[in-house]
Amino acid sequence: MILVTGATGYIGSHTVVELISHGYSVVALDDLSTSRASTIDAIESITGVKVPFEKIDLKDKAALLKIVGKYPIDGVIHFAAHMAVGESVLNPLKYYENNLCGLLNLFHFMDQSGCKNLIFSSSCTVYGEVNKVPVTEDFPTQRPPSPYGNTKKIAEEIIEDLAATNKLKSICLRYFNPIGAHPSGLLGENPDNMNNLMPLLLKVASGKMESLKVFGNDYKTRDGSCVRDYIHVMDLATAHVKAYQRLAAKESAVAVEKFNLGSGNGFTVLEMIHAFEKVNGIKINYKIEDRRPGDAAEIFSDSKLAAEKLKWKTERSLEDMLSSAWNREKTYRQNELR
Ligand code: WQD
Repeated sequence: MILVTGATGYIGSHTVVELISHGYSVVALDDLSTSRASTIDAIESITGVKVPFEKIDLKDKAALLKIVGKYPIDGVIHFAAHMAVGESVLNPLKYYENNLCGLLNLFHFMDQSGCKNLIFSSSCTVYGEVNKVPVTEDFPTQRPPSPYGNTKKIAEEIIEDLAATNKLKSICLRYFNPIGAHPSGLLGENPDNMNNLMPLLLKVASGKMESLKVFGNDYKTRDGSCVRDYIHVMDLATAHVKAYQRLAAKESAVAVEKFNLGSGNGFTVLEMIHAFEKVNGIKINYKIEDRRPGDAAEIFSDSKLAAEKLKWKTERSLEDMLSSAWNREKTYRQNELR
């Protein structure tokens, strides 16, 4: 069985659905601090499979160790972490405590469970300010601009140290910008506490917000707005299955591998807005504002290594990302009204 922490979150829930569709048995764990238990029902209605769920905060070591031996855990896919960049700047202690103490407790759980396989949810933010693109895995990691990003960089370093003592084999997946949703519209993020581009664009589209702020149009890019590498969350979920298969089959001679998960293309903020309008037939009001501190002008991935070692590449188009995102938003708002 695979323990998925953060299983009711955005990427976690999509990955659980993908794991089950590949025949894996999953134990879902989440503290429900930023997601809902109803996501477990959604996963079951999509897959037709009943998923055991443990409501546990990974900071509660005693509660976590209580489930040692309850399930035959062969591996862990660890998503559970706070991930709001802006909030982490205002409240770094909350982020270091939650993301790092939670990780350390998870290692105690794995050790006592005799489990060595860990897929870790990392981020392209570990590269810090990049000055050339596309980004490859041998780019040096640098101090990320936010405490959230720093918890990801530190976590990777802790994983390396544990793996050096043969206690762990791990694959760290460095996400670029995940967007979109499962075609059912039943899975997705809770957009009301997110400051990322897509959740806010969707709030404008659904009338929850009057206008979108575009943080700068004076960058040295095609149209002056920032370039990012957007990736469909379903493609991201598939990458986790492929990474787990590689880890479980012990295909790698090294204890820790890192892979960029991106499409290898970049789109500007303005291109995203216009593509969304075209795909979904909705006008998006926006206003050019000052640059957001810490934003890089351009970052997108070189994901050749994942293609070679994981036999994975993105399959879904920008249109799929934007239409599925809008479908999710409509479903979310309808349920919210219920
Ligand atoms: C994207 C672009 C903004 C909001 C994210 C996550 C980070 C990591 C990488 C997972 C930027 C612009 C945004 C708005 C805007 N993912 N923007 N108006 O900063 O690339 O980082 O992906 O670990 O955790 O935060 O994503 O969506 O915040 O911004 O103009 O209201 O959209 O300036 O250029 P970012 P984002």
